[in-house]
Amino acid sequence: MARLEVAIGPITARNPIFSASGTYGHGLEMTGFTPIERLGGWVSKTVTLHPRHGNPAPRLCETEAGLINSIGLENKGIDHYVEHVLPTLVGIDSIVVTNIGGERDEELVELAARLDGQAEVDVLELNLSCPNVQDGKLPLATDPARSEAVVRRVREATTKPIWVKLTPNVTRIGDMAVAAEAGGADGITAVNTLLGLSVDWRSGRPGVATVQGGYSGPGIKPVALRSAWECAKRVSIPVVGVGGITSADDVLQFLAVGCAAVQVGTSAFSDPSRPGRLAEEVGALLDAAGIGDVRDVIGTIRDGRQHTPGAAGSPSGAAGDGAGRERDRGQPCASKT
Ligand code: FUM
Repeated sequence: MARLEVAIGPITARNPIFSASGTYGHGLEMTGFTPIERLGGWVSKTVTLHPRHGNPAPRLCETEAGLINSIGLENKGIDHYVEHVLPTLVGIDSIVVTNIGGERDEELVELAARLDGQAEVDVLELNLSCPNVQDGKLPLATDPARSEAVVRRVREATTKPIWVKLTPNVTRIGDMAVAAEAGGADGITAVNTLLGLSVDWRSGRPGVATVQGGYSGPGIKPVALRSAWECAKRVSIPVVGVGGITSADDVLQFLAVGCAAVQVGTSAFSDPSRPGRLAEEVGALLDAAGIGDVRDVIGTIRDGRQHTPGAAGSPSGAAGDGAGRERDRGQPCASKT
């Protein structure tokens, strides 16, 4: 079968498929559906400095081609995560990405510092883009200068690789990616949910109690793809694509626009075992196309190259080297392949 291993900056993953934050617990909860070895890695639900009860119910509703959520970053806080979750991940053969969030810069800096010495954490994903707090104003995710400043402060607080999770609720997401890179990010996660709204016009009741929420699922895939493409064109750090991925074909589309890896979220709610099947299905699609290495798909649209089936197998071969930019960057410091 085709080689599926990818490099995401200094991280090497056995395949390009990660769970998306907020959709797969902290990791072990889902192993009944997806054995650890089937995913490239896991992303935790957002962890905040203090426990949060989250937003009032209802907090989830189905809508056309997806889901609107307004969870409000419910979680038990960093003390619980360090004392009760991380010990369960000791020795785990997977990339562990801890998503951290907060409403003030200081919270994010403290979280990064607290997790810096935690060996089980391979990557910090900085959630600047939750639309369900601060009235959906996204102050850290819509102003490049503020974003760069907070990323820089977090960078100074940790030696871990940092992925910055961006919002699609901006006109020029590439500017936000550039700001994150300038602040010291090691990767970009593109994208979080779109601001959305669902309403029953008869009762006047909105789908979620906060009226607006974050829209995810297949309906946002074209927006997410375009956003990831724009980011990949603008930065030299890797981009991890997320938004509406349901199939192996979707995974390869995100790689083609320049993503080094992807995250799968909402589609796991309707089929929690789906993320665990995708790597094998990606391999089967590559085999059918005569492509021997998934990295040969990365960036093919961005670079304007056409892949030549059959010429693959050598990731640095004449068939194109869309992954070369990612592979050339740094030596792996974490490898759980
Ligand atoms: O409301 C929530 O907890 C969602 C978080 C996010 O989209 O980042």
